[in-house]
Amino acid sequence: MRAIVVYESMFGNTRRIAESIADGLAWEDVEVIGVTHAGQEALGGTDLLVVGGPTHAWSMSRPRTRKGAPEYVRKSDGGLELEPGADTGPGVREWIDSLGEMHPGAAVFDTHIKAPLGVSGRASKSIRRELLRHGLSLVAPAESFLVDRKNHLLTGEVARARQWGENLARIVENRFSEAK
Ligand SMILES: Cc1cc2nc3c(=O)[nH]c(=O)nc-3n(C[C@H](O)[C@H](O)[C@H](O)COP(=O)(O)O)c2cc1C
Repeated sequence: MRAIVVYESMFGNTRRIAESIADGLAWEDVEVIGVTHAGQEALGGTDLLVVGGPTHAWSMSRPRTRKGAPEYVRKSDGGLELEPGADTGPGVREWIDSLGEMHPGAAVFDTHIKAPLGVSGRASKSIRRELLRHGLSLVAPAESFLVDRKNHLLTGEVARARQWGENLARIVENRFSEAK
Protein backbone atom coordinates (compact mmCIF):
# COMPACT_ATOMS: atom_id res chain seq x y z
CA MET A 1 0.00 0.00 0.00
CA ARG A 2 1.25 3.45 -0.91
CA ALA A 3 0.39 6.74 0.80
CA ILE A 4 1.57 10.28 0.32
CA VAL A 5 1.13 12.95 2.97
CA VAL A 6 1.40 16.45 1.47
CA TYR A 7 1.60 19.31 3.92
CA GLU A 8 2.09 23.07 4.06
CA SER A 9 3.68 24.58 7.16
CA MET A 10 5.00 27.97 8.31
CA PHE A 11 6.14 27.20 11.87
CA GLY A 12 6.41 23.39 11.69
CA ASN A 13 3.11 22.50 13.37
CA THR A 14 1.42 20.99 10.33
CA ARG A 15 4.69 19.29 9.33
CA ARG A 16 4.95 17.61 12.75
CA ILE A 17 1.34 16.45 12.48
CA ALA A 18 1.96 15.17 8.92
CA GLU A 19 5.00 13.18 10.08
CA SER A 20 3.04 11.66 12.94
CA ILE A 21 0.13 10.70 10.65
CA ALA A 22 2.69 8.98 8.39
CA ASP A 23 4.10 7.07 11.41
CA GLY A 24 0.58 5.92 12.19
CA LEU A 25 -0.10 4.79 8.63
CA ALA A 26 2.90 2.48 9.01
CA TRP A 27 2.77 1.11 5.46
CA GLU A 28 6.05 0.25 3.75
CA ASP A 29 5.59 3.00 1.18
CA VAL A 30 4.65 6.24 2.93
CA GLU A 31 6.13 9.57 1.82
CA VAL A 32 5.77 12.89 3.60
CA ILE A 33 6.28 15.77 1.18
CA GLY A 34 6.24 19.53 1.78
CA VAL A 35 3.88 21.13 -0.71
CA THR A 36 6.69 23.16 -2.29
CA HIS A 37 8.28 19.84 -3.39
CA ALA A 38 5.11 17.90 -4.22
CA GLY A 39 5.35 17.37 -7.97
CA GLN A 40 2.49 15.46 -9.59
CA GLU A 41 4.83 12.61 -10.62
CA ALA A 42 5.06 11.62 -6.92
CA LEU A 43 1.33 10.91 -6.85
CA GLY A 44 1.30 7.96 -9.25
CA GLY A 45 0.08 4.62 -7.87
CA THR A 46 -1.04 6.19 -4.60
CA ASP A 47 -3.74 4.37 -2.60
CA LEU A 48 -4.19 7.24 -0.16
CA LEU A 49 -3.41 10.94 -0.50
CA VAL A 50 -3.44 12.88 2.78
CA VAL A 51 -3.36 16.69 2.49
CA GLY A 52 -2.99 19.15 5.35
CA GLY A 53 -2.31 22.81 5.92
CA PRO A 54 -2.43 25.54 8.52
CA THR A 55 -5.55 27.67 8.90
CA HIS A 56 -4.94 31.24 7.72
CA ALA A 57 -7.74 33.80 7.93
CA TRP A 58 -10.30 30.98 8.53
CA SER A 59 -9.25 29.03 5.42
CA MET A 60 -6.25 27.79 3.41
CA SER A 61 -3.28 30.16 3.19
CA ARG A 62 -3.00 32.67 0.37
CA PRO A 63 0.12 34.52 -0.88
CA ARG A 64 -0.95 37.53 1.20
CA THR A 65 -1.41 35.59 4.46
CA ARG A 66 1.86 33.67 3.95
CA LYS A 67 3.69 37.00 3.74
CA GLY A 68 2.40 37.69 7.28
CA ALA A 69 4.09 34.62 8.79
CA PRO A 70 7.60 36.14 9.29
CA GLU A 71 5.99 38.87 11.41
CA TYR A 72 4.54 36.21 13.72
CA VAL A 73 8.07 34.76 14.06
CA ARG A 74 9.58 38.16 14.86
CA LYS A 75 6.96 38.81 17.53
CA SER A 76 7.40 35.38 19.13
CA ASP A 77 10.74 36.19 20.84
CA GLY A 78 12.35 33.01 19.61
CA GLY A 79 9.27 30.91 20.27
CA LEU A 80 8.62 30.24 16.57
CA GLU A 81 10.90 29.47 13.63
CA LEU A 82 10.00 29.81 9.97
CA GLU A 83 10.15 26.59 7.94
CA PRO A 84 12.42 26.94 4.85
CA GLY A 85 10.53 28.55 1.95
CA ALA A 86 7.31 28.65 3.98
CA ASP A 87 6.33 32.22 3.21
CA THR A 88 6.94 32.02 -0.54
CA GLY A 89 4.63 29.16 -1.48
CA PRO A 90 3.04 27.54 -3.33
CA GLY A 91 0.64 26.62 -0.59
CA VAL A 92 -1.90 23.81 -0.55
CA ARG A 93 -4.45 26.06 -2.27
CA GLU A 94 -2.26 26.64 -5.35
CA TRP A 95 -1.05 23.02 -5.34
CA ILE A 96 -4.59 21.62 -5.43
CA ASP A 97 -5.45 24.09 -8.22
CA SER A 98 -2.61 22.59 -10.29
CA LEU A 99 -3.83 18.97 -9.90
CA GLY A 100 -5.48 17.16 -12.77
CA GLU A 101 -8.42 14.80 -12.26
CA MET A 102 -7.35 12.15 -9.71
CA HIS A 103 -8.99 9.16 -8.08
CA PRO A 104 -7.09 7.85 -5.05
CA GLY A 105 -8.86 7.92 -1.69
CA ALA A 106 -8.03 11.04 0.25
CA ALA A 107 -8.03 12.41 3.76
CA VAL A 108 -7.59 16.01 4.87
CA PHE A 109 -6.49 17.77 8.02
CA ASP A 110 -5.47 21.17 9.30
CA THR A 111 -4.02 22.86 12.31
CA HIS A 112 -5.71 25.83 13.92
CA ILE A 113 -5.95 27.69 17.19
CA LYS A 114 -8.10 26.09 19.89
CA ALA A 115 -11.20 28.28 19.86
CA PRO A 116 -14.84 27.89 18.87
CA LEU A 117 -14.91 27.02 15.14
CA GLY A 118 -16.79 30.22 14.34
CA VAL A 119 -13.77 32.11 15.67
CA SER A 120 -10.87 29.97 14.38
CA GLY A 121 -12.24 28.63 11.10
CA ARG A 122 -10.52 25.53 9.71
CA ALA A 123 -8.54 25.10 6.52
CA SER A 124 -9.56 21.43 6.18
CA LYS A 125 -13.07 22.46 5.17
CA SER A 126 -11.80 24.22 2.04
CA ILE A 127 -9.08 21.62 1.37
CA ARG A 128 -11.82 19.00 1.38
CA ARG A 129 -14.05 20.99 -0.95
CA GLU A 130 -11.24 21.57 -3.47
CA LEU A 131 -10.08 17.93 -3.47
CA LEU A 132 -13.64 16.75 -4.11
CA ARG A 133 -13.72 19.09 -7.11
CA HIS A 134 -10.70 17.22 -8.48
CA GLY A 135 -12.47 13.87 -8.30
CA LEU A 136 -10.99 12.53 -5.05
CA SER A 137 -13.21 10.82 -2.52
CA LEU A 138 -12.70 11.20 1.21
CA VAL A 139 -12.13 8.01 3.21
CA ALA A 140 -12.73 9.74 6.58
CA PRO A 141 -14.07 13.02 7.93
CA ALA A 142 -11.67 15.98 7.92
CA GLU A 143 -9.67 16.32 11.14
CA SER A 144 -8.16 19.32 12.95
CA PHE A 145 -5.19 19.41 15.29
CA LEU A 146 -4.99 22.26 17.74
CA VAL A 147 -2.47 24.87 18.79
CA ASP A 148 -2.49 27.45 21.58
CA ARG A 149 -2.67 31.20 21.03
CA LYS A 150 1.13 31.33 20.76
CA ASN A 151 0.91 28.86 17.85
CA HIS A 152 2.39 25.88 19.71
CA LEU A 153 0.80 22.45 19.31
CA LEU A 154 -1.23 21.42 22.33
CA THR A 155 0.03 18.48 24.36
CA GLY A 156 -1.28 15.21 22.99
CA GLU A 157 -1.97 16.42 19.45
CA VAL A 158 1.07 14.67 17.92
CA ALA A 159 0.00 11.38 19.52
CA ARG A 160 -3.58 11.95 18.35
CA ALA A 161 -2.28 12.47 14.80
CA ARG A 162 -0.53 9.11 14.94
CA GLN A 163 -3.78 7.45 16.04
CA TRP A 164 -5.64 9.19 13.23
CA GLY A 165 -3.05 7.79 10.78
CA GLU A 166 -3.52 4.28 12.22
CA ASN A 167 -7.25 4.65 11.79
CA LEU A 168 -6.89 5.81 8.16
CA ALA A 169 -4.70 2.80 7.39
CA ARG A 170 -7.36 0.45 8.82
CA ILE A 171 -10.13 2.12 6.80
CA VAL A 172 -8.22 1.87 3.51
CA GLU A 173 -7.05 -1.71 4.18
CA ASN A 174 -10.65 -2.79 4.95
CA ARG A 175 -11.87 -1.18 1.71
CA PHE A 176 -9.23 -3.09 -0.24
CA SER A 177 -10.04 -6.44 1.35
CA GLU A 178 -13.80 -5.89 0.84
CA ALA A 179 -13.19 -5.07 -2.85
CA LYS A 180 -11.33 -8.38 -3.43
C1 LIG B 1 -1.02 34.67 8.71
C2 LIG B 1 -1.65 33.72 9.69
C3 LIG B 1 -3.04 33.66 9.81
C4 LIG B 1 -3.64 32.78 10.72
N1 LIG B 1 -5.01 32.74 10.80
C5 LIG B 1 -5.60 31.85 11.64
C6 LIG B 1 -7.02 31.72 11.70
O1 LIG B 1 -7.78 32.38 10.99
N2 LIG B 1 -7.55 30.81 12.57
C7 LIG B 1 -6.76 30.04 13.39
O2 LIG B 1 -7.29 29.25 14.16
N3 LIG B 1 -5.41 30.13 13.34
C8 LIG B 1 -4.82 31.00 12.49
N4 LIG B 1 -3.45 31.08 12.42
C9 LIG B 1 -2.67 30.18 13.27
C10 LIG B 1 -2.21 28.94 12.51
O3 LIG B 1 -3.29 28.28 11.87
C11 LIG B 1 -1.56 27.93 13.46
O4 LIG B 1 -0.51 28.51 14.17
C12 LIG B 1 -1.05 26.72 12.69
O5 LIG B 1 -0.84 25.65 13.57
C13 LIG B 1 0.24 27.02 11.99
O6 LIG B 1 0.68 25.84 11.38
P1 LIG B 1 2.10 25.75 10.70
O7 LIG B 1 3.15 25.89 11.77
O8 LIG B 1 2.13 24.40 10.08
O9 LIG B 1 2.15 26.85 9.69
C14 LIG B 1 -2.83 31.94 11.54
C15 LIG B 1 -1.43 32.01 11.40
C16 LIG B 1 -0.84 32.87 10.49
C17 LIG B 1 0.66 32.89 10.36
